[in-house]
Amino acid sequence: MSATTPASTLITNIGELMTQDLEHRVLKDAAVVFEGERISWIGSRHDAPSADEMIDAEGRAVLPGWVDSHSHLVFAGDRTAEFEARMAGQSYSAGGIAVTTGATRSVSDDELTRLVRDRVKEAVSQGTTYLESKTGYGLDVDNEARSARIAAAEVDEVTYLGAHLVPAGSDPEEYTDLVCGAMLEAVLPHVRWADVFCERGAFTEDQSRRVLTAARNAGLGLRVHGNQLGEGPGVALAVEFAAASVDHVNYLSDKDVAALAETWTGWDPTTGLGTKGTVATCLPACDLSTRQPLAPGRGLIDAGVQIALAANCNPGTSYTTSMAFCVTTAVLQMHLSVHEAVRAATYGGALALGRESGNDVDGERAVGSLAVGHRADLHMLKAPSATHLAYRPGIPLTDSVWRAGVRVV
Ligand code: NIG
Repeated sequence: MSATTPASTLITNIGELMTQDLEHRVLKDAAVVFEGERISWIGSRHDAPSADEMIDAEGRAVLPGWVDSHSHLVFAGDRTAEFEARMAGQSYSAGGIAVTTGATRSVSDDELTRLVRDRVKEAVSQGTTYLESKTGYGLDVDNEARSARIAAAEVDEVTYLGAHLVPAGSDPEEYTDLVCGAMLEAVLPHVRWADVFCERGAFTEDQSRRVLTAARNAGLGLRVHGNQLGEGPGVALAVEFAAASVDHVNYLSDKDVAALAETWTGWDPTTGLGTKGTVATCLPACDLSTRQPLAPGRGLIDAGVQIALAANCNPGTSYTTSMAFCVTTAVLQMHLSVHEAVRAATYGGALALGRESGNDVDGERAVGSLAVGHRADLHMLKAPSATHLAYRPGIPLTDSVWRAGVRVV
């Protein structure tokens, strides 16, 4: 804690406190107290205990900080020309990843660190308090290890995505061997997760299975990029490997949706206990920027699937860190309620990263929901309710942000 951070803080006169806890509480006229990194009290402002510091929210809304569970922040360069071509009618293909790989390899460690840091800062300034980033623009042993090392110093969770694209001139099978062998070993000290882009133009089902098997054997948690550009084996593989999340999910068969829903039958959403399933992570900013159909968030929720919303910041398909934009889109165009959309962008992200409360995740490590013992990650809006996120699209509504009890905005 910094010298200027008070030992305890009371935020009172909160117009709407959307906790996104297991009871889904939305409190009016509320207050919250945190001591150090943890929330110590939540309730009506009339019953609030005193604290060293008192902040009057003047009727504003408070929600958990965004948990952005899918991004690709370790890159240099930009792909404006590719974006313009797409807006003129060209379709997205995985090939653009090579352009960013070239640009990323060409910058120094210091420059790459600065770029990542600036993107994290941009995300935090809009209310993100927990952030994942992938590697995937290094695509050789040294550059993937460098990306993983730099990411580990700047973000909360790092995912190894050596299996993002087979570099030009490489044999796909030999490159997959490298991803499963020397490259995996080199990134291992820096990463908690592994991912594979299982899609036409990227990695086949068989290659993806090899990557997931090697990562699992190395003790990493698993994630899959799947069903982004067409129906395919991504979702089925994610379910087969009990991946924490399958991301994109634009093109789903009824069988895919049923398989995802089935993974959640061993889990109790009111206690957070039981066997967790595979989260479907929807990336609406990416869907719009690639002119793909929006992921069927409404249908997934109705089928019993737990979903997350994430910004997917990367230079190819989604050059934004704005979780608010994703929430707005999820409400206006994916037909989620405001509560569902905010939940997917907070608790859902935590679930996708294994940082929700419940099971073996104690309160201390829980993010994405506001309850006693959880990390004090709070996002105050310049608005009386979270509904304004959708009601006032495009308006920057972040007022203040606390991360682990420290005011960062
Ligand atoms: O999640 N789909 C694969 N990976 C990124 C895009 C990578 C790129 O085009 O640079 C994504 O959208």
